[in-house]
Formats: sequence, C-alpha cells, structure tokens
Amino acid sequence: MANNSKIWKGNWTFILAAAGSAVGLGNIWKFPYMAGENGGGAFVIIYLACIVLIGFPVMMSEIFLGKYGRSSPVYTMKKFVSLKGISSYWVLLGWFGALAGLMILSYYSVFAGISLAYIFSPIPADSLNPSQYSVDFFAQFQSSPMRMIFWHSLFLILTCFIVAKGVVDGIGATIKIIMPTLFFLIILLSIYSSFTGEIGKAISFLFMPDFSKITSSVIISAMGQAFFTLSLGMGAIMAYGAYIPEEQNLTKTVSLIIFLDTFVAIIAGVIIFPIVFANPELTPTAGPSLFFETLPVAFYGIPFSFFASALFFILVSLAALSSSVSLIEPSTAWMEDRFKISRTYAVTILGSIAWLLGLGSLFSFNLIADFQIFSMSFLDFMDFLTNSIMLPLGGLFIALLVGWILSENFVKEEMKIKNELYWKIWINLTRYVAPILIGLVFIFALF
Ligand code: TRP
Repeated sequence: MANNSKIWKGNWTFILAAAGSAVGLGNIWKFPYMAGENGGGAFVIIYLACIVLIGFPVMMSEIFLGKYGRSSPVYTMKKFVSLKGISSYWVLLGWFGALAGLMILSYYSVFAGISLAYIFSPIPADSLNPSQYSVDFFAQFQSSPMRMIFWHSLFLILTCFIVAKGVVDGIGATIKIIMPTLFFLIILLSIYSSFTGEIGKAISFLFMPDFSKITSSVIISAMGQAFFTLSLGMGAIMAYGAYIPEEQNLTKTVSLIIFLDTFVAIIAGVIIFPIVFANPELTPTAGPSLFFETLPVAFYGIPFSFFASALFFILVSLAALSSSVSLIEPSTAWMEDRFKISRTYAVTILGSIAWLLGLGSLFSFNLIADFQIFSMSFLDFMDFLTNSIMLPLGGLFIALLVGWILSENFVKEEMKIKNELYWKIWINLTRYVAPILIGLVFIFALF
C-alpha cells in the first residue's frame, strides 16, 4: 500500500499524469477517424453528451476509489471488501480492468509504433501529388509486417522501460514539456489547415448533426470513444488516483482534464478534415489510416516541413507514451505486490503478453487481412471488445459501486462536496444517469 511519501506533491502532478494518460492517440488519431466513419456531427454530439453525462461522474468515481484505496486497483478493491464489507466479487473489477488495459495496449502500441516511424517519413519535397504519395506510402507501410513489428516492439520497449522506472519519475518531467508544446503545435496546425483546406466543409461535417445518420453502431462507438479518450473503465485513472493529495479538489481537477482532452480531440478534427475535403485522394471514412494519410499532407509545403513534421510526430509519440504507461501500470503494480517481484520483471512479462497479442492486430493489416471474427478483422474485434464492451462495462460497475453499494454518507464525506445542490446533481448522475445510459446503449446496440 502506498504510504504518504508516495503521495504526489502539489495539485499539478496528478493533473499532468491523468491528462497525460487521457490525451493520446485517442484524441488525435482515433477521434477524427471515428467521427469520419460514423457520419461526423451526429457522432460528435453523442460523444460530447457521453463525456459530460457518463465520463464526468465515472472519472470522479474512479479517482475517489483509488484515493481511498491508495493502492493498485486490485488491492484497492480488496481494501473495500475488507473495510466496507462489499462482496469479494468486486475484486473482479480490478482484474477485468487489468486485462482490458493489456488488450488495449496490444493494438495501441501498433499505431503508436507507426507514429514513431512517421517521425522519419515526411513526404519528399519534390513529390508531384502529395496526397496520393501519402496514401500509397501508408499502404506500402502496412503491407510490411517486419517493418511494423520493428516499430511496435520499439514502442512497447519504451513503454515498459518507463513503467519499470516508475511512472511519475519516468514521465513527470517530460509531460510538463510535451503537453504545452503539443498544444501550441496543434493550434498552429489547425490555423494553417483552416486557411489552406476546406474549413467550411470540415466545420459543417463535424458540427452539423445529421440525425438520420444515427444508428446503434454510431451510438455504441461514440460511447466507447468517450471511455477510451478519458482512459476510463479499466482502472488507469483509479491507479493514478491512489497518489492524489488528500485535499485536492476533485471537481476542478476532473473538469480541467476533461476540458483539455476534449479540446485536443476537436482541434485534431479541425486539423484533419479541412485537408481531407481539399484532397480527392483522401476520404473521411478511411478508418485507422486517416490520420497517417492526412497529416503528412498538412506538412507538405510549409516552411521547414521536414523539421515540423518530425517534431509533430515526436510529440504525438510522446503523448502516446504518456498514455500507454497508464494501460500497463495497474497490472504491473498488482503483479509487483502479489508476487513480490521487481517492477522490471513484472512489466517485462506483461509487456511480452501485450506484444504477442499485438501481433494479431498488426497482422490484420497484412498476413491475416482476410481472417474474421464476427465479421470483423482481428484488430477491429479487439477494438470493439475493449472500447465498446469492456470499458463501458467497467464504468458501469464503477458507477454502481459508488452510487449504490457504498453508503451515501461515506462517499459524500470522502468526496468533500459541500454544496448540497451540486452533490444532488453529482450523485444522481452517478446513480441513475450514467448507469442507465450505459445500460440503454448496450441493450439498444447489442440486441
Ligand atoms: N486515453 C488514451 C488516449 O486517448 C488511451 C488510454 C490510456 C486508455 N489509458 C487508458 C484508454 C485506459 C482506456 C483505458 O489515447
């Protein structure tokens, strides 16, 4: 169990770690392509509603649980079992989260690996048709398993290395630098893209909802994306919550993290879609390749383009790294406690599992492109299972635990919410709104 010396000093450490976890490929790579595949505005509206109505209460709940437990999610749950007399089945929630984290990491690392590779692959200055070049480049990249394995492995090794050193010592200092720089750069890029691309089409695509496009799959994808982008439902934020200072104001902290995360996602959309609509070779429905086909085009032709593009992909890779560490941290902390082994040893074993599993997603680009599970590729299946099912399910149980199982007085006391009206709103979101919405989406989408 963490003792006081392990509680992070200052309010900023938790915010940086949690924002570092939240802001990652989910915002810049995944959000735009999910919005593109799911019809734009309608998806965006449901996504934003899920962020506020589900993400907000669930994130508060996760931090609250971690803060009380002051330990890794599995041990935090055990502490609730022994001190609050809840059923020992709740420990499964910790396990389930650790598993979801490894599964997500397995394919996250494949795409983060591609962004590492892109540091070195801008569009050559003499290219005649940059967007065609970019599409062809990605197609060629994905058809080479060895090349992809190299970058996937490199990214996982970096992740494990940091986790072995301890997350805050490992990334604390870097996050302080990369986050503001990334912000600055994406804002510049979005301005550039607005002036050179089709900003009007992009804005109406992203923000004018066409409600006829709403289907059950759009809804479940939007909810899954809300969980994914905020790192909720698998214990990552709970694990970080274990180190939050006692007096830190949860509402302010969570609001800031959610704001930053949503801002980055929307800006990423504003960078990508003007370029997509200005180039006939690019399509909004391209899927996971959208980001990698579009961004190089954004850099082509700007001054110092090689340098700018390398800097951008370095920042994206670092943002991915500060997210990926939180995917493997809960299981590492648990293994370390449970088997009394070193962090290095624990993370090596877990990283190897994620690496192997990741090969399945990696090969679905090439060697096993025709292999299907429930008419999805291996990658799509992993993505669907984790984002659309496991994370919302984890979130549902977290909300039920805090809203229904633990006593209201205890939660209210620990949360330090003094304003009665706010408390009523918060507890009703946690008790009714979040679980009912998650339940409805499941029922609607799966049956
Ligand atoms: N939120 C991260 C992103 O947007 C990914 C991530 C990190 C994550 N930790 C997580 C997703 C835990 C789900 C659960 O890139």
